[in-house]
Amino acid sequence: MSDQVKYLLSEEQMPKSWYNIAADLPVPLAPPLHPGTGKPIGPDDLAPIFPMEVIRQEVSTERRIDIPKEVRDIYRQWRPTPLFRARRLEKALGTPAKIFYKYEGVSPAGSHKPNTSIPQAFYNKAEGVKRLTTETGAGQWGSSLAFAGALFGLEVEVFMVRVSYDQKPYRRALMEAYGARCIASPSTETASGRAILAEHPDSTGSLGIAISEAVERAVQSPDTKYALGSVLNHVLLHQTILGEESMLQMEMADAYPDVIVGCTGGGSNFGGIAFPYLGEKLRGGRDVEIIAVEPAACPTLTKGTFAYDFGDTGHLTPLVKMHTLGSTFVPPGFHSGGLRYHGMAPLVSHIKELGLISARAYKQIEIFEAGVLFGRTEGILPAPEANHAVKGAIDVALECKRDGRARTILFNLCGHGHFDMQAYIDYAAGKLRDIDYSQAELERALAGLPKVAA
Ligand SMILES: Cc1ncc(COP(=O)(O)O)c(C=O)c1O
Repeated sequence: MSDQVKYLLSEEQMPKSWYNIAADLPVPLAPPLHPGTGKPIGPDDLAPIFPMEVIRQEVSTERRIDIPKEVRDIYRQWRPTPLFRARRLEKALGTPAKIFYKYEGVSPAGSHKPNTSIPQAFYNKAEGVKRLTTETGAGQWGSSLAFAGALFGLEVEVFMVRVSYDQKPYRRALMEAYGARCIASPSTETASGRAILAEHPDSTGSLGIAISEAVERAVQSPDTKYALGSVLNHVLLHQTILGEESMLQMEMADAYPDVIVGCTGGGSNFGGIAFPYLGEKLRGGRDVEIIAVEPAACPTLTKGTFAYDFGDTGHLTPLVKMHTLGSTFVPPGFHSGGLRYHGMAPLVSHIKELGLISARAYKQIEIFEAGVLFGRTEGILPAPEANHAVKGAIDVALECKRDGRARTILFNLCGHGHFDMQAYIDYAAGKLRDIDYSQAELERALAGLPKVAA
């Protein structure tokens, strides 16, 4: 059918394993280091914060890792997610390009994040953990872990970045409805939070600070562990289900992407859509151009330094080699809370260094313009984070129009914006500003990068 819009898979067609790109990398990833000794960390160093199965996945080089049946049974609630051909958007742009998007906003939390909150909760429960702590920026990850906690009978405590806590009371309410406790970060409940507040009583917070608070809390009790919503290898692994599904759906559409676009905060939805295709290319398959899109106000991949750094502001985490703006960098309070992170997934950073992907940065107003055009043509109003991918895909489609090239574009629409309407209200009222980061703040934060011999 030549005018088909949706490509749907049955529950039986849902992939039964995740794809691990570590198996196909031409150069292995630099190991995480112990902040005290500077030596590569071992499983025992991570055991206070993560369950063993998660640690095993973090370091695994097996190409395929089975998705437990219990996890697949929960995934069925919203997976497989639809793949759409953006026919009305193509028409509005007048582009010869074909635009496809994978839509992850159909999950209960409204984004890709439950793809990893469910397995993480499952592995923790299986190892006897009672309580999970975490950070959240936009509130998407906090809601997703709260949802997973409700299903597995785990207590969940979420440190929510202050600026998002104030911007998004309904995300907070959703977490609480699922039974989680939500605390504005920086808070007075942890030493890391108190240290920040002593110096900056009006701190808007950051993901780096919220991570410190959540990790600090987890290491204090043996029945409590920490769950991270992005950045680490196991999180990107879990997200590959969406890219794996999209491969089957693109086949149904008799198409293969020439270009893949995803937004990057910590890199997980981007890894999810891009890695299965990149893996195929690395194994001698078809070539594909892969573009990561990030906010110009927190430009980790385009302006960051590739170096060992802490994952958090309070320096409780191991050192990982990644593109970083410096662990104490506090991005301005723009409306894409999920992209306000100083670092990038080591896997995404590594493939950027290897020249396997490129990155673009966009400002706040232009990504909302793209999101509104998308809403007016395709009907779905994206999350502000997802608007970065929409803008990236639109720009590639317009380049195709200029050059008369009918390329096939695939992007990940990682979430809907129904809890982000204040941002759209501000946009419609002309109140949004293209807030820039401070160069002095960036230089100060980069000057604080840890000295590592490697
Ligand atoms: C809707 C949405 N998209 C993207 C992100 C960024 O995370 P990642 O880069 O790990 O996909 C977030 C993070 O909270 C999010 O909520």
